[in-house]
Amino acid sequence: MPRASERIVSGQAFDEDARIEASVRPKRMADFIGQSRVKENIEIAVAAARTRGEALDHVLLYGPPGLGKTTLAQILANELGVTIKTSSGPLLERKGDLTAILTSLELREVFFLDEIHRLLPAIEEILYPAMEDYRIDLVIGQGPGARIHPFKLNKFTLVGATTRAGLITAPLRSRFGIVHRLDFYTPGDLVEIVHRSAKILGIQVDDAGAREIARRSRGTPRVANRLLRRARDYAEVRAKGHITLEVAREALKMLGVDEHGLDEVDRNLMLTIIQKYAGGPVGLNTIAASLSEEEDAIEEIYEPYLMQLGLLDRTQRGRVATALAYKHFGIEAPRPQQHLF
Ligand SMILES: Nc1ncnc2c1ncn2[C@@H]1O[C@H](COP(=O)(O)OP(=O)(O)OP(=O)(O)O)[C@@H](O)[C@H]1O
Ligand SMILES: [Mg+2]
Repeated sequence: MPRASERIVSGQAFDEDARIEASVRPKRMADFIGQSRVKENIEIAVAAARTRGEALDHVLLYGPPGLGKTTLAQILANELGVTIKTSSGPLLERKGDLTAILTSLELREVFFLDEIHRLLPAIEEILYPAMEDYRIDLVIGQGPGARIHPFKLNKFTLVGATTRAGLITAPLRSRFGIVHRLDFYTPGDLVEIVHRSAKILGIQVDDAGAREIARRSRGTPRVANRLLRRARDYAEVRAKGHITLEVAREALKMLGVDEHGLDEVDRNLMLTIIQKYAGGPVGLNTIAASLSEEEDAIEEIYEPYLMQLGLLDRTQRGRVATALAYKHFGIEAPRPQQHLF
């Protein structure tokens, strides 16, 4: 059984879901909803690159999973009118894997490198001259007779994506001319996304139903699309296929998604801190062990949204439940220590 994080958030757990996700993925900037600041900046850069007939500067996109990094990379290629090659940090195991891709890139082509924070250091170093001077240094021969042979690459655009901007090394980061953080979406943007996806997938959802799904989607389009599909399943079996407010509420209740979009793992995480560790501070590794979840999943998927809601704080000494968290779970907050003197 997939972990809860995969079930709810990643969208890659089931082939069927992955296929549907691809079908609702916007292909042009005009269909990309929200993130207006990022959109505007990228549109200007793309228009300028097109006018000059040059490759677009390298682009780094970061932010929590499911907010549209991969989508934007593909849109970028479409808007530039060029093809895209795709790889991912952990897939590149040997230097040759990366040099093979780099040497095959065509003029102005987009190279999308997902999970760029997971590149091995020796492989990352190949990217430095490639990004800066469109050059790689091939080593010809072996041992004392080996020679370095510079190889000129076509001018290309690297689009790097990561959920963990903090893990990107300074030399790598400094080579990106365009750096954007994707933020959680507003409820209004998510309503629009739900309606758009419903139309593409032929799902009947009224405005109140769409609002309910949007409101509980953790500010994340991938989750909104996921909840929409699950609500459709429910509606088909119980409500003649039509998603109304009532149907959305019932479906979300069955999925264990609460009023704020928190799922079981979110709730367990907060309750662990509050009940087992007196509100914290408690270390990430301790929380992960208590929940049998991976530290990475907790840091990348769960915590950003809990912090956004103001339920969780990350401090030097560990994770802390806020006063708001106590209120949310209807638990009385411990009183601050009374000092007698
Ligand atoms: N701005 C948007 N407008 C409409 N739909 C969107 C938007 N952003 C994302 N989506 C939808 O959300 C899904 C997930 O987006 P995407 O795969 O680009 O996220 P990601 O940031 O690459 O996530 P991960 O970090 O897990 O790779 C897409 O399939 C797309 O349908
Ligand atoms: Mg992605």
